[in-house]
Amino acid sequence: MKEIAASQAYRLLEPGPIVLVTTSYDGKPNVMTMGFHMMIQHAPPLIGCVIGPWDHSYQALSETGECVIAIPALDLAETVVDIGNCSGDSVDKFQRFGLTARPAKTVSAPLIAECLANIECIVADTTVVDTYNLFILAVKRIWIDETREETRTLHHRGDGSFTIDGGTLDLRDRMVKWRHLP
Ligand SMILES: Cc1cc2nc3c(=O)[nH]c(=O)nc-3n(C[C@H](O)[C@H](O)[C@H](O)COP(=O)(O)O)c2cc1C
Repeated sequence: MKEIAASQAYRLLEPGPIVLVTTSYDGKPNVMTMGFHMMIQHAPPLIGCVIGPWDHSYQALSETGECVIAIPALDLAETVVDIGNCSGDSVDKFQRFGLTARPAKTVSAPLIAECLANIECIVADTTVVDTYNLFILAVKRIWIDETREETRTLHHRGDGSFTIDGGTLDLRDRMVKWRHLP
């Protein structure tokens, strides 16, 4: 994968794809599915993620302060749903779903080779975890697989059905107020 600037995290997340969150706790990698996320700030790049205490990943993220947000494409659709319907407390999901864990550079959580992009994050703020299960993550590195043929992302409609990424509408020449963005 080619590395791109951490400041460009919003280019990947503003469209709101369903994502996978990896963690590593006690040397064991785990992965969960997450739809509740949002960009919070451009610089330094911050992402808000809702990860509930019912998830095994909650404890891993709370204890290690590190995770990777991996962005799957349409070819992983069924796997994405299955990952969100079983828990790392009883299943080795990397093995069960045939995912390839690759070492990240800054965090202990693994990258997922089968994903379009991987965003290395550290927990930057926990002040709203108790109230909203909302972790504020700082983006440290981003890795993009530029060789993939399938690049359509999945957008969760909240009930296990998804909108599949479609065409692109290029209105960049109208973004006159925002030319300075990276
Ligand atoms: C499509 C989909 C979206 C989900 N979104 C979230 C989410 O935003 N936050 C969350 O805490 N759990 C979410 N889940 C549930 C977790 O993925 C699920 O509880 C998972 O089993 C947690 O895995 P873990 O116990 O190994 O951490 C989602 C599940 C699915 C299928």
